[in-house]
Amino acid sequence: MFKLSRRHLMIGGAGLAGAAILMSKPGDESGPRDPYFETLQAALTAAGIASPTLVIDKARLNANIDTLVSHLPAGMAYRIVAKSLPSLDLIAHIRKRSGSDRLMTFNQPMLSALTRAMPEADQLVGKPLPVAAARNYFGGLTPEESAAASKIQWLIDTPERLRQYQELARATGQTLRINLELDVGLHRGGLEAGETLKAMLGTLREAEELQFAGFMGYEPHLAALPEALGWRERAKAGAWRRYGEALAQAAEVFGAEAIAGLVRNAAGSPTYRYYQSTEIANEISAGSCLVKPTHFDTPLLEPHQPASFIATPVIKAIDRTRLPGLEFAAEGQRAWDPNVSRTVFIYGGNWLADPVDPPGLSYNKTFGRSSNQEMLTGGHNLGIKPDEFVFFRPHQSEAVFLQFGDIAVFEDGQITQRWPVFEASA
Ligand SMILES: Cc1ncc(COP(=O)(O)O)c(C=O)c1O
Repeated sequence: MFKLSRRHLMIGGAGLAGAAILMSKPGDESGPRDPYFETLQAALTAAGIASPTLVIDKARLNANIDTLVSHLPAGMAYRIVAKSLPSLDLIAHIRKRSGSDRLMTFNQPMLSALTRAMPEADQLVGKPLPVAAARNYFGGLTPEESAAASKIQWLIDTPERLRQYQELARATGQTLRINLELDVGLHRGGLEAGETLKAMLGTLREAEELQFAGFMGYEPHLAALPEALGWRERAKAGAWRRYGEALAQAAEVFGAEAIAGLVRNAAGSPTYRYYQSTEIANEISAGSCLVKPTHFDTPLLEPHQPASFIATPVIKAIDRTRLPGLEFAAEGQRAWDPNVSRTVFIYGGNWLADPVDPPGLSYNKTFGRSSNQEMLTGGHNLGIKPDEFVFFRPHQSEAVFLQFGDIAVFEDGQITQRWPVFEASA
């Protein structure tokens, strides 16, 4: 009879552990370039672009706009989130294609720039700004521009801020349109139905210099909650119940007729598809999903395509990887992980972005990040040469888009336009 000895067990155990380690040995992820990025590279080269550049693929952008519009139920308006699409030309293009005249703006310089460039657009300020920022906004307008100021909905979150804006309205002689921020579960401040909201609605009804424009209830947390055990559904129902309660309170103060014309803003890219009717919200705001940075790779946004990339030239391509002071370890490292076989140093770097082409590139944790010449390592099949381009997908658009100067617009195999971006500003 076969008898399992202690020695057999030990050898078997060691063998299993060895197999497990070997199974976790990384495979070589390098390979041929994606023809899409080769076309993009040819366009950049033909355009004489030779520094880190943010590229937007216009055909994909257009497809994303059409996708968004096609998802909206009857009667649902779309508000363009300007901070996530921070370029006047980009916003102008989206306005035209989507037919939307509504913008969501987040800081005073952007508010002023949009007032000048698009005086006819309705701007909802997406966060409550200190009243001094609003005062600076009015201070910077010429008399001709000040008519457009009546198109702005100022977001207000507390009775104190409402009082400050009321004083500003008196001081400027402007009627200010006020949108009230609701807390529908994100808990980033804002109001819920109750005594405070009732009192603020009362102030809005009485104050001649203020006009109640509507509510804004943002709920991006919903998309991040697990679906298990109905968790997300419960949170969604809770958000809509809170929104509904605030609407009911507004109807009590202003009358049902008066609230029919209110703006009822909700959503962001990750949640806009939850709104299948206009029962709660009558407009959704979204921006990022039109250019789709990696943070927006979610199941609901699957129909949207990545439409923005960072392209940067390779400065140096080296057919082996050596780390300063660790030269002796190079062979061992490469034997274990083929993805550290070759090295490129790129023009610039240290962006909130992931390399996507050539395939298999990654940052080197030991070498660290660099904003000047960032190191990327790759596998045996990495064949990129100096002056060719590495492509990245940004994690987010709002801050990243502002780091590269004018956006390069890629269309029909060429760079057809350059779109200046907004100045970096919080
Ligand atoms: C109030 C508000 N609404 C909507 C959005 C959605 O923007 P995006 O679609 O770019 O995520 C944001 C983003 O921060 C926001 O703060």
